[in-house]
Amino acid sequence: MTPAIDYSNSRHALVPARSTERFARPRLVEVSKAPQGELVHTHDGRALYLRGIEPGDLAALKRQFTRLSPEDIRRRFLHCMGELPDSMAQRLVNIDPARETAFVLMDETVKPAEMRGVGRIFVDEAANSAEFSVLVEHDWARQGLGALLMQRLVDDCRRRGLSEIWGYVLLENRPMLHLCKDLGFVRRLSPEEPGTTQISLQL
Ligand SMILES: CC(C)(COP(=O)(O)OP(=O)(O)OC[C@H]1O[C@@H](n2cnc3c(N)ncnc32)[C@H](O)[C@@H]1OP(=O)(O)O)[C@@H](O)C(=O)NCCC(=O)NCCS
Repeated sequence: MTPAIDYSNSRHALVPARSTERFARPRLVEVSKAPQGELVHTHDGRALYLRGIEPGDLAALKRQFTRLSPEDIRRRFLHCMGELPDSMAQRLVNIDPARETAFVLMDETVKPAEMRGVGRIFVDEAANSAEFSVLVEHDWARQGLGALLMQRLVDDCRRRGLSEIWGYVLLENRPMLHLCKDLGFVRRLSPEEPGTTQISLQL
């Protein structure tokens, strides 16, 4: 007769799995998405990723707005704005690639990733030109990012076969006027917009 096997002290004892284990949901493993875009560096060595804006950037765009000074906001939007309306934020992240390009500089060293700079163009097909805007948040300024974004926008306009890139800049906005002068932009008087100048680059 085959002897009965005593499993009671064995490592192999057939103990049923605990109910919490039997019915446990599969563990959610957080898969962190690899940063997308081109790795670029500030003059002082900080890393950012340059890529096109996406609808999923809505929250980061809104957070960035809350970090801007009233002066930055006025210089970027050419008027004061206490908050960024949701409809406008939606519009800014959902671009029409046929007529718009928007590059963002994403800081992936923080979670969630933060948007440190944005440069965009809006194409006027009839005039074969594009209007630009650019913004770099204060703690990241004077690091070459504004120039980088502007250069990429100029390249994009050339790729599109446009003949001119232009924008309105407040006359008091010396950083932007300096930056654009370095890139070869010239100033035009804009009498219809007092306190502003139109700057443009023929491509
Ligand atoms: C204007 C702005 C985009 C500049 O961005 P930035 O990342 O600081 O610019 P950069 O570091 O690339 O500077 C490039 C050049 O611009 C000029 N410049 C930038 N900031 C300057 C400042 N505070 N004073 C004088 N010149 C300045 C310099 O010529 C500089 O070259 P340098 O650093 O080799 O001297 C940024 O200050 C900003 O977002 N301002 C608020 C929004 C705005 O004004 N947008 C423009 C209208 S759409």
